[in-house]
Amino acid sequence: METVSALSAIDPYIKTNEERFIHELLDLLRIPSVSADPKFKADVARCAEAVKQRMTEAGLEKVEVCQTAGNPIVYGEKIVDPSKPTVLVYGHYDVQPADPLELWHSGPFDPVIKDGMIYARGSADDKGQFYMHVKAVETMLKTGGLPCNVKMMIEGEEEVGSTNLSIFVKENTERLKADVVLISDTAMIANDVPSINTGLRGLSYVEVEVTGPDRDLHSGVYGGAVSNPINALCEMIAGLHDADRKVTIPGFYDTVNELSAAERKALAEAPFNEKEYMKDLGVDAVRGEKGYSSEERSSVRPTLDVNGIWGGYIGEGAKTVLPSKAFAKISMRLVPNQKSEAITKLFQDHFVKIAPPGVKVVVHPHHGGEAAVTPIDSPAYLAASKAMEDTFGKKPIPTRGGGSIPIVALFEEVLGLKTVLFGFGLDSDNIHSPNEKYGVFNYMQGIRTIPRFFHHFASTK
Ligand code: BES
Ligand code: MN
Ligand code: MN
Repeated sequence: METVSALSAIDPYIKTNEERFIHELLDLLRIPSVSADPKFKADVARCAEAVKQRMTEAGLEKVEVCQTAGNPIVYGEKIVDPSKPTVLVYGHYDVQPADPLELWHSGPFDPVIKDGMIYARGSADDKGQFYMHVKAVETMLKTGGLPCNVKMMIEGEEEVGSTNLSIFVKENTERLKADVVLISDTAMIANDVPSINTGLRGLSYVEVEVTGPDRDLHSGVYGGAVSNPINALCEMIAGLHDADRKVTIPGFYDTVNELSAAERKALAEAPFNEKEYMKDLGVDAVRGEKGYSSEERSSVRPTLDVNGIWGGYIGEGAKTVLPSKAFAKISMRLVPNQKSEAITKLFQDHFVKIAPPGVKVVVHPHHGGEAAVTPIDSPAYLAASKAMEDTFGKKPIPTRGGGSIPIVALFEEVLGLKTVLFGFGLDSDNIHSPNEKYGVFNYMQGIRTIPRFFHHFASTK
């Protein structure tokens, strides 16, 4: 069969073109496509154009930069035979803000390769990972053709909640018809322990504003006699967890899907070394919800974290001030069956209720997203598993991930499509942190593995 002979040509083609594949990625990484900060709007647009050009060069057709109310979506496809299965590849070209800048060893948008790692914002999340698909398509087309049809949709607002992509998906259900969604935007256990994420958490994100006196006050003249909004905010935040580190918002756990004993046992089988985990993070203890392991706490349990907190005087030296306002950004990671909007409402009601006397509280909801679980017995999962076994020499372990990709639940709801989370990153890649990195090995291994997924998936239909 055509695709069998093509497979043997894949590795030599990739080997010959390795240098170019890497340099093309470095060029993409030079574009600061930060979606959270409007200052980068023009760079985001430039990045979308660059992605369009690369997809076209790789041999995709009808490649288009689709404008939205926010950042553009780049779409392209290659339909080789309508009777063959279709894979919808999704990824994102937007990146998280790079700050704190002073903690980077080299410029976040000035990629360098050191000890086999590509350092740059977006190297692992997600430019390095979605670009593997562009290069895999090029490779397949140059070595005998695509065994399946492919549709590719790369968006520019994943890091800010994918609101406009949701609209685009709902308006383009015909164009996006496919048999499965394939996404490389997650991590494996280790380079010698391949794994596939089978779940993502949902998200509820809010910003809170606490106001005390109507102006900043002298902390000697008024301190002690009125509520200080920063003190109040700290009390309120501290009260959001109890002594067992459970979230105290009434109803927070009501709809949570508890894992069965068998599921917990399966989770516990994935290799995990708590000592190394602590060492890697520079902490001398782990801490979290009572009755659950670190892996459970960071994947299948819902959580609440403060992401940022500010107010009052933070300049040089000391200023004795009792501030008028205090703020915090708070996120909750959700698990299957918790609804993002409902949880945001529970938070809002509770947070207003626990305000001490003398302060006013306003909760501003941000973006959210629903959790998702993906099957491990579908033809697509089995194709992904076989593909990884081909290139890693080991069958990948199914694991649950703790992060969120909000559009995954919507793909199922609107398009009726299941997703395979075909991620090649590592937890140690520092995504969203200073010195984000992605292994050259991981990048090249992804490019080698994706064509094998297409090959196995084509033969399941
Ligand atoms: N690629 C990540 C999600 C991820 C990372 C999933 C690691 C599993 C393992 C994605 O880009 C991301 O950061 N998502 C945000 C979603 C949000 C901003 C709506 C997240 O999880 O914080
Ligand atoms: Mn990502
Ligand atoms: Mn991210």
